[in-house]
This record gives sequence, structure tokens and C-alpha cells, in this order.
Amino acid sequence: MKILVIHGPNLNMLGKRDKSIYGGKTLDQINALLKKEAKTLNVELLIFQSNHEGALVDFIQEQAPSAQGIVINPGALTHYGFSLRDALADSQLPIIEVHLSNIYCREEWRTKSVIAPVAKGQISGLGWRGYIAALQMLVSELKTKS
Ligand code: DQA
Repeated sequence: MKILVIHGPNLNMLGKRDKSIYGGKTLDQINALLKKEAKTLNVELLIFQSNHEGALVDFIQEQAPSAQGIVINPGALTHYGFSLRDALADSQLPIIEVHLSNIYCREEWRTKSVIAPVAKGQISGLGWRGYIAALQMLVSELKTKS
């Protein structure tokens, strides 16, 4: 089973961005924790980060046909990334949207997600543990279905 883990714009700066909002872990540290969990769950992870919406769309188009699910933190594209949303919808894969911060208790413009309507569910505000919970939930559901 292959799961795509996708990180959007500015998430490569984790560890340097406001730690009181996003936590102190770097993206490499979060990815290492995800890989460890994937080993426990016995699934393959393909992890990708880009600051460019088109690169994220290309990655989804190329990789979705051979994957079973997607965990994605779209960064600020959450709020306006319509081509990302379309690529996710076209993948026809189950998608879990993850946010480190709670997007519902920050600025008004962050409370709207254009990704949420094409996602199976969303985890917001649980920090790096949200990624782990998303992976566990997705894999557990995919395994019970098959
Ligand atoms: C974020 C929330 C977004 O509003 C923001 O633009 C990000 C990170 C989060 O993980 O909390 O870059 O997706």
C-alpha cells in the first residue's frame, strides 16, 4: 500500500516559522516520524514538498494512479488553491487534510478551506501528531476496506 504525503508552500520552513503556532519540529523531523509510523503500519510513503502549486498538481497527477491515499497539508493553498483542489478531486483517492495549527481560531481568511469539500476529513490544531493520526486513520480504513 502506497500513501502520498504532500506538504505545501512554506512548510519547508518549519522549525524557523512561528513556533508558538506551528511547533518546533522541522519538516525533516516530522517526515522521519511519519516514516517510522509507516514502517509500523507496513505501508510505503512517498513524501513531497513544494512551494509551487503547479509542482504539487504535477506530483499528484503522476503519483496518484499508483497510490491508495493522500495525507496533505496544503499550507496557504488550503484557502485559495483551486487547481490543487481539482487535482486532488481528480485523483479519486481518499484524502486527509492536515493543519498543524487550528485554522478556525486564527485570522478569518484561514477559516475557509477549498480543499475540505474534496477531503474525507480534516485534522486541524493537533501539531505534528495530526500527521501521524491522519496516516493511522487512512491506513486503518484502507486495510478494513480491502
Ligand atoms: C497551515 C495553516 C495555513 O493557514 C498556513 O498558511 C500554513 C500552515 C497549518 O499547518 O496550520 O502554511 O496549513
